[in-house]
Amino acid sequence: METYKPSAIPLCEPNLNGREKQYMAEAVDSNWLSGGSFLRRFEQQLADYTGAAHAIGVSNGTSALQVAFALAGVEKGDLVLIPDLTFVATANAVRYLGANPVMVDIDADTWLMDLNLLFDFLENQTYRNSGGCFHRESHRRIKAVVPVHLLGNVCEMELLNEIAERFALTVVEDAACSLGSFRNGRHSGTSGLLGTMSFNSNKIITTAGGGAILTNDDISAKRARHLITQAKSHVTEYIHDELGYNFRLVNPLAAMGCAQMEQLPGFLDRKKEVAAHYRQAFRDYDAVFQQLTSGTDSNHWHSAMLVNESRSLIAALAAENIETRPLWTPVHALPVFRQDLFVSRANVSTDVSRRGVMLPCSTSISDEQLQRVCQTIGKLLNVSTNIQ
Ligand SMILES: Cc1ncc(COP(=O)(O)O)c(C=O)c1O
Repeated sequence: METYKPSAIPLCEPNLNGREKQYMAEAVDSNWLSGGSFLRRFEQQLADYTGAAHAIGVSNGTSALQVAFALAGVEKGDLVLIPDLTFVATANAVRYLGANPVMVDIDADTWLMDLNLLFDFLENQTYRNSGGCFHRESHRRIKAVVPVHLLGNVCEMELLNEIAERFALTVVEDAACSLGSFRNGRHSGTSGLLGTMSFNSNKIITTAGGGAILTNDDISAKRARHLITQAKSHVTEYIHDELGYNFRLVNPLAAMGCAQMEQLPGFLDRKKEVAAHYRQAFRDYDAVFQQLTSGTDSNHWHSAMLVNESRSLIAALAAENIETRPLWTPVHALPVFRQDLFVSRANVSTDVSRRGVMLPCSTSISDEQLQRVCQTIGKLLNVSTNIQ
């Protein structure tokens, strides 16, 4: 006899229950594939929602970072400050430009770049001259700093911008995970010179693969559009005036994005309910959730908790048909970035990464499924849960 297996609960699946098919079919029928009216509409929706003067659709969040770094003036041999706990794309994009990342450890509560540590490093290990800010030991220029709004929590951008100004650094915000996150009324990704977003299939809205560059700077916006279309400078002739990229978001995928944007308010409500459910369920347990920075209204893109035996919990949940994942491996521990500088006092990123468990948080998750996740975790950890 077959044993009963409860239905699978995925980690974070896309939710395509709006007008996605309709709009994508319209895009195909229009015969406008590379560019077209859905791309313009999607970009306008993003600009209107985030308050950015310009939103430029690109092929994914990684290409958005690569172009943003180029626009920020990052050049071969430069250093770029990033948090140690982020998806590898942030560090990869620095390398694509021939620069190297400098990983700054994270804050133990917010899991975001530790701004005290950042300031100490800049104050004590760099010097400034008319050419910018330079690392004392290697004499390499430090060109930019990249706050990553991890899981939807927004960095203290006022403080970060102040530090960046003092040390002549350009700010590029990696807002891949934070569409719908605001800090003091301002949307994530709109406080620095440039912000980047991802619409990968696990993000709060998706275009299957896609991304965007946000900026309030007209010149950067114009250059971004130029760079992502192979730097073509003549309408009909094939004249390319610098090294460009083929990084445009295509019209049928932007059509999916338009339908997703219509559902964003509902997605945000559900993500917030899911996060509140987990916090309530494990209120009495010393599991640690990410603490939001003051003034942040997070999109709660991903719920995660810290537990000591994270890997065995993940395996035991998988056996119960519940998908969870570890948090990202710190960048400094990845073989390709081991030679790069890691600025840390206590190696917080390693601890958070070792104990982190990303919990199921699809916008389509039902209340019953949420309860089953919490009850199963409670049973496996041998802790009581507070489930209404
Ligand atoms: C923090 C962060 N930066 C960049 C990216 C890259 O985005 P994409 O997968 O669209 O290239 C991601 C994607 O997961 C991310 O989480």
